[in-house]
Amino acid sequence: MNHRENCLIKKIIGRIRDFTRNRPKLSIVLVITFVAIFTFINVEAIYHTSKPNFCALCHPGTGPGPLSQVYTWRQNVHAGAGVSCLDCHADPGFFGYMQAKVLGLYDVYAEIFKTEEYKLAVLSRSINNPSYSAKLVPSTRCLFCHTDSVNQQIRTT
Ligand code: HEC
Ligand code: HEC
Ligand code: HEC
Repeated sequence: MNHRENCLIKKIIGRIRDFTRNRPKLSIVLVITFVAIFTFINVEAIYHTSKPNFCALCHPGTGPGPLSQVYTWRQNVHAGAGVSCLDCHADPGFFGYMQAKVLGLYDVYAEIFKTEEYKLAVLSRSINNPSYSAKLVPSTRCLFCHTDSVNQQIRTT
């Protein structure tokens, strides 16, 4: 950072400090409003980018093929039962979900900076490679729902 930038940052910090000293109540209100808006935008963004329609932006296939995960999911019993992408593609719980969201940023990176061939190669990996599939979606994720107790619940309701 050069000298001028340094001065500018010091000036801005000084102004903020003066403002919070002169208007303490207004400052608190502004900070709370800012945090609330910031949290709201993030929660909305995370919610909407977890919906199958969002995944379909880059996994848009409508027939057999390596881009048709949303299409095939719609034909599957899980779609009708309300079981969505991240129920299988994230570990259960808040941290598993957040981890999947962060790792999902690589999808966006690859969409922009990698070639279409690369994308199709990744999305074809599990066709002939069961151990790759098993790592991508470990069966513990299925067993979170497919246990005797949960099955009994599903069958009796
Ligand atoms: C901006 C485009 C984009 C969106 C939106 C998107 N993906 Fe992807 N996805 C990709 C690309 C590109 C790849 C291949 C490269 C990679 O990420 O491994 C991929 C790969 C994947 C893989 C395979 C990863 C692997 O290592 O084999 C899964 C699973 C996946 N996406 C699930 C999802 C789910 C679930 C959603 C919605 C919540 C989603 N994607 C939304 C672009 C996208
Ligand atoms: C019931 C569990 C389940 C649900 C729900 C589910 N998936 Fe998957 N998905 C899997 C499994 C298991 C695999 C690995 C085996 C395979 O490729 O078929 C996989 C593989 C994938 C792959 C990688 C394909 C490859 O060859 O590497 C993508 C992309 C993907 N799913 C996207 C989605 C999207 C998008 C949704 C929601 C519309 C979704 N999945 C819903 C279980 C699920
Ligand atoms: C979030 C909970 C959940 C997860 C995770 C989940 N399932 Fe399911 N699964 C269900 C529900 C609910 C049904 C529908 C049961 C019904 O309506 O009879 C179902 C149905 C099925 C069926 C059809 C059973 C039938 O009688 O038609 C199979 C097979 C199945 N799941 C396999 C899997 C596999 C494999 C995975 C992991 C890759 C998985 N499921 C992950 C909840 C889940």
